[in-house]
This record gives sequence, C-alpha cells and structure tokens, in this order.
Amino acid sequence: MPVADIVHLEEFAAAHRLHARDLGVQENAETYGACQNIHGHNYVLEVTVRGEVDARTGMVMNLVDLRSAMREEIVDQVDHRFLNEDVSFLQDLPVITTENLAIAFWSRLAAREAGWGGPKLHRVRLMESQSNIVDYYGE
Ligand code: NI
Repeated sequence: MPVADIVHLEEFAAAHRLHARDLGVQENAETYGACQNIHGHNYVLEVTVRGEVDARTGMVMNLVDLRSAMREEIVDQVDHRFLNEDVSFLQDLPVITTENLAIAFWSRLAAREAGWGGPKLHRVRLMESQSNIVDYYGE
C-alpha cells in the first residue's frame, strides 16, 4: 500500500523565559541575552504522521484523531500559559527552549500513537516565529 504523510497545524500563544538551571548568572546572560526576560510567542505546532493509505477509507488516519491528540495533549495545556511555571509536564526541563518543547511535545503525542492503529509519528515541528523553527524526529 502507498505510504503518505498527513500534517496538522495548531496555534497557541504562550510566555516563557530562557534561563538554564545548569548555567550561572553570567553564562545565562551571555547565552540568552534579552530572552532571559519573560516574553511571548505565537507558536505554530505542526505534526506529521506517516502511514499507509488505507484502501477502504483512503486515509492514513482520521485527521480528527490527530487534531484531538494535539489539542488535548498539548494545546489545551500550554495555550495562554507561562511555560516555565504553569505546565506540569514541562517542569523537569532544564530550560524552556523551542528544542526542548518539541521533544516534550513528541513524548506527549507518542503516548497516543498506539491508538492510531498503525500510523507513526514522523515529525514534530515547532515554529516559534516564521523564521525560527525546530524539527524533531524522535531520538
Ligand atoms: Ni522566546
């Protein structure tokens, strides 16, 4: 059966600051500059799922299921929140970068993958802005 990628996008607004637990005051200042201050982004989360196109349904999976997984596992938890303090599943991260967010979001979605009956999470793309984008493929 042919394999295809399906993609769904969700947007959320959230605040964060870049301040690494494991760096000292001076190193944090040099590394993150003004991004140490609390500021916000309109994030775009783009998730790609890869799988065989079902001969009967003509679909890799129902996009409604991907959308609900993204909303329930991620968007509903992070939208209009201060990511450094308000979101329990982010509290173990050493610093709230876009990279670490993408990895954390992958883990949340991976927990839903078994329920999709075959299709696999392929990419989590988190866009902090139109020009700053992180892709995570697992591992
Ligand atoms: Ni930022």
